Amino acid sequence: MSSLSPASQLILKHLSDNIDKHTLIVDPLEVQDINHPSFAECTLWSFREISATQDKQVIWPQTPEFSQFTKIIVFFPKAKEKAVWLLSMLAQHSSKDTLIYLVGENRSGIKTCQKLLTNQLSNLQKLASGKHCLLYQGLPNGNSPLPTDFVFKNYEIEQKSIKVASLPGVFSHGELDKGTELLLNNLPENISGKILDFACGCGVIGSFIRKYYTDTQLSFCDIDALAIEATKQTLNCNNLAGQTYLSNGLQKISSKYHYIFTNPPFHTGLKIDYYISEAFIKACGKQLESSGKLYLVANRFLKYPQILQNHFDLVEVIAEDNKFKLYCAYNR
Ligand SMILES: C[S@@+](CC[C@H](N)C(=O)[O-])C[C@H]1O[C@@H](n2cnc3c(N)ncnc32)[C@H](O)[C@@H]1O
Repeated sequence: MSSLSPASQLILKHLSDNIDKHTLIVDPLEVQDINHPSFAECTLWSFREISATQDKQVIWPQTPEFSQFTKIIVFFPKAKEKAVWLLSMLAQHSSKDTLIYLVGENRSGIKTCQKLLTNQLSNLQKLASGKHCLLYQGLPNGNSPLPTDFVFKNYEIEQKSIKVASLPGVFSHGELDKGTELLLNNLPENISGKILDFACGCGVIGSFIRKYYTDTQLSFCDIDALAIEATKQTLNCNNLAGQTYLSNGLQKISSKYHYIFTNPPFHTGLKIDYYISEAFIKACGKQLESSGKLYLVANRFLKYPQILQNHFDLVEVIAEDNKFKLYCAYNR
């Protein structure tokens, strides 16, 4: 039980007798939770490509048949717009007596759910708390407003003449991240060939490169289906073409690249976690051409220099400011 996230531990403490094949689990943050035997019979509806051992995984934009479930457990999304959209959809499509549970760490903002979801859920009550998490139970509100389609937030990075389309919950929703900006301001003079934008978010790095370095073919990957959707839309808005992959790390990537650019993830859910980036940096060797280069921007306090030096012959700091550093790593 201790390998489970605190939110899942709270669920099992209070709901374990109720979890069965009629239970739908929505978007858990921790991969190990899904593979726990207690959830083996459940169906998982996920917004991320995760390596779940359980075979009943449905990834958005596909949807399961909601009405077949008597219990739906939602891991409360940090992005409030995503929470409202998700619960509107569940309220519309599930049966009126389906029990809907919301679970999340206090710092996910779950405390706001009773105010936030008055239109979507009725009788929403706190069921339990513990391990810095809260568990709520409610019923779908039959009169819930129809879920609107996910609304893209479009913005333009004026000094770079690039349009960006983003979705709630996708990194730097609605504004350019300062680390990403440092990378875009310090790109090499000549870039050509096959390029990968790893952990692309809404695809801003790769789209910028495709637009200004015309002799390039771009691929984008991210674990988050919403990020991939936003990337496709960003490409569309700028009349650009690129290949997109929904992929956990580099698992779905088979080509070799001349350059990989990234502002990599360093959180799993809400906590700092180098595991994904370390695994990515280690696997980069296989995905780069022999003369290929990795450009990685990160918060300067994160311990990337050591990780990069473990896997590349040469690591240079190309640019830095008071918050971020841009590294270039390659082999001799
Ligand atoms: C710091 S954001 C950078 C987004 C974008 N490149 C930018 O600069 O705005 C990191 C991205 O990593 C993605 N991510 C997290 N875990 C991942 C994984 N295991 N494999 C691939 N992408 C992942 C997140 O969904 C997020 O979009």
